[in-house]
Amino acid sequence: MSDRRFAIRTSGCQMNAHDSEKVANLLLHAGWVAAADPDAADLLLVNTCSIREKAEHKLYSDLGLLRGWKEQRPGRLVGVGGCVAQQEGDALLARFPQVDFVFGTHNLRLVPALAEAAEAGQRRAETAERRDLERFDLPARHPSLSRETPGRAFVTVMEGCDMFCSFCIVPRTRGREISRPAAAIVREVEALAADGVVEVTLLGQTVNAYGRHDVRRGRAEQAGTMPYAALLRRLAAIPGLRRLRYTSPHPLFFDDALVAAHGELAALQPHVHLPVQSGSDAVLARMRRRYRADDVRALAARLRSARPDLVLTTDLIVGFPGESERDFEDTLALVRDVGFVDSYSFKYSPRPGTPAAEESAEAVPAAEAQARLEALQALQRGLTIAYHRSRVGAVTEVLVEGPSRKGGRLQGRDPQHRIVHVEPGAGPAPAPGSLVEVRVGEATPHSLLAEPCAGGGEAHPGRAFLSGAAASGR
Ligand code: SAH
Ligand code: SF4
Ligand code: F3S
Repeated sequence: MSDRRFAIRTSGCQMNAHDSEKVANLLLHAGWVAAADPDAADLLLVNTCSIREKAEHKLYSDLGLLRGWKEQRPGRLVGVGGCVAQQEGDALLARFPQVDFVFGTHNLRLVPALAEAAEAGQRRAETAERRDLERFDLPARHPSLSRETPGRAFVTVMEGCDMFCSFCIVPRTRGREISRPAAAIVREVEALAADGVVEVTLLGQTVNAYGRHDVRRGRAEQAGTMPYAALLRRLAAIPGLRRLRYTSPHPLFFDDALVAAHGELAALQPHVHLPVQSGSDAVLARMRRRYRADDVRALAARLRSARPDLVLTTDLIVGFPGESERDFEDTLALVRDVGFVDSYSFKYSPRPGTPAAEESAEAVPAAEAQARLEALQALQRGLTIAYHRSRVGAVTEVLVEGPSRKGGRLQGRDPQHRIVHVEPGAGPAPAPGSLVEVRVGEATPHSLLAEPCAGGGEAHPGRAFLSGAAASGR
């Protein structure tokens, strides 16, 4: 019993990565042991993503390879979870004999039972949408669950999405918006901070929509939720928590309290990943994003006036059906005007069952979409390096993640979430999870190179970050 080993392979977003961590925790509590890699595992879980066609196809090519993996040792099991599992359910069992069980995005808690049933030869799919809060009630962190980065953790505050952007599959794979009671979130963050975690990233498909339905219906008190900015304020006050982040917010839900929080809460880091998708009002309307490009410009200005050193990054889609050259130029203009420091850009990929995939607007030819993607990425490269150069000479604080791939250095993230490579200092190397003060010496296209500040080592504990921001001259 005790030496059954599992491994998990994860694609997709941070939410999926965090779900994999939750499943690992559940399996450890059920007596399974984590395998170093799939070769050493008896159970392999594939946590899938269906955001674009390519992501979904990855599962199908993985499943081909997993036939061989199963044949290598009798008794091996394959479980499929995540967004493809949620969509396909039983169909995966019917189509792929090598799949032993399927678990949906609301049924993580059933994984140990499903694995057990599979060992007894039962193939089951559990993909019911759960609208209760029970799915958030997970056991405490198992002592042998390793942290990907010591000192850093993710905490779910809401799940699901009620926005129904016309291109997006997520409302169909993650279900309706539901917010966790604030008290449970506070308890989780307090426990993390007591365990030495200094940076917490709050997660939700539209994280800053937290509590909005309860607040609007006048039932926040009953539900134990509160406006998002109030939640941030509560969490930022937790002793030991030095850095607070969140992802991904929707541009529509930045009320004045949230913008003000960015100027007032020292723990709230000066970076917002703000997916905007397009800079064309016509395209935004057809995407059902419910804002205009100028709203994004205004929001960027509001955030920067609250927190002048704040960095914005984004997600963009090119080649949305009916996107004209002129529309695309509007996207370039928005990216330039806001000065996004980084972006993830994608060619539109039709998702079955979404309105955009069924509508009649003319598809942008593949070669044209590719050319637009490249033009957008070229613009972005210029903005990224310009920002990195603007940081040269600044003093900043890095949360150390571990050794760099570039020999001898350490790698970590600064408050703006930029990757920083730190040269070895005079003393012993700071441990992963520690915060160190560094001076930026060089800008590269993808990262900053820095040296520990004189005196080196751990940044002074308890130092309010805002004074660091002032020292960096930004
Ligand atoms: N919840 C987040 C986005 C989650 S999906 C938000 O609302 O911003 C991550 C990104 O994938 C999106 O921001 C979008 O840029 C991209 N994406 C989503 N659906 C897509 C599709 N059908 N084709 C191409 N890119 C898509
Ligand atoms: Fe998808 Fe839009 Fe919801 Fe983001 S807000 S998850 S893009 S439907
Ligand atoms: Fe992918 Fe599902 Fe996340 S579709 S991006 S794993 S919510």
